[in-house]
Amino acid sequence: MDVFIELNQIQAEFQKDLDLASDLAQLDQLKIRYMGRSGSVTNLLRKISSVQKEDRPRFGADANKLKSEISDFMSRKANEIQVGSGRKTIENLDVTLPGRLPVIGALHPTTQIVREICDIFVSLGFSVIEGPEIESDKYNFEMLNIPKGHPARDMWSTMWIDNPNHSDTNSTLLRTHTSPMQARFMESTTPPIRIVVPGKCYRYEATDSTHEWHFYQIEGLVVDKGISFANLKGTLYEFAKRVFGDDRQVRFRCDYFPFVEPGVDMSISNFKDSEGNRPIKGKDEDWIEILGAGMVHPEVLKSVGYDPDVYTGFAFGMGPERISMLREGIDDIRNFYSNDLRFLGQFV
Ligand code: PHE
Repeated sequence: MDVFIELNQIQAEFQKDLDLASDLAQLDQLKIRYMGRSGSVTNLLRKISSVQKEDRPRFGADANKLKSEISDFMSRKANEIQVGSGRKTIENLDVTLPGRLPVIGALHPTTQIVREICDIFVSLGFSVIEGPEIESDKYNFEMLNIPKGHPARDMWSTMWIDNPNHSDTNSTLLRTHTSPMQARFMESTTPPIRIVVPGKCYRYEATDSTHEWHFYQIEGLVVDKGISFANLKGTLYEFAKRVFGDDRQVRFRCDYFPFVEPGVDMSISNFKDSEGNRPIKGKDEDWIEILGAGMVHPEVLKSVGYDPDVYTGFAFGMGPERISMLREGIDDIRNFYSNDLRFLGQFV
């Protein structure tokens, strides 16, 4: 007989038997009949070797579910029977039994890594600022030296909100990065500035193991008199060591982002040790890119009313999910938002 049909039959029979049971002795009998050494559930589980390979995980899951259902139902019934005979309940009450722990929720793995990263920057003197997820073209692009028609706009596949022609600077969109907060924050304050901006971003992209249409970024911005590229390197090196361990090396290479000049990406080292193992699991490369950065572009400083001859600064942006994936050996970004408790539970 097909094991899945058999499983359903056992479930149905059990429900009938359970309805008929009226005292604890009968419940004990039931337990032996279904869960005992040659009970029907135990026998069914033994048949797993005859189940087609591709059906096994489903069979295993169904059978385990049945097992826990049966024990749940039996303890509920046992309770009912005991409550029915009140005096007995008190006699059977064992106050020395350990209590049952309630299931307690925990922070989402993204929240955990975002907080961890922000805490690192707070300890380096940064403040944490948040900004709107619905942005205007002006802050997401224009003020960041990405005018209309600029080919660099293609780096950020955009979800527009209200104006499909997006010809107007006020047209709204779901921010494609946290960089608009660079302009917003600079515009509303005067240097010195040292901020990190965590938040959700959105891109009009097909999802796969390394791309989500929505994800987090953490932006960083430092502006003051005399800020140099050495400050950028030192700060980000310290950050990399705190997240990935003291023996991590970092490498900077030229990269292009319209709002920084020079622009770089930063990679962390992933060399094989003497046994041929790499520190970052599942990545067979010597260097792994973790963020984009650069010196704030003079045009951006001008657009917020700062004099680029007086003030300089650096900015950086990173994807916290990606950082968590590298450190924890997670191979699919979609795990973060598919809400499978088997994944989420590993971060409790
Ligand atoms: N905003 C950039 C992106 O989304 C990252 C970045 C931020 C690069 C700040 C340089 C400086 O790709």
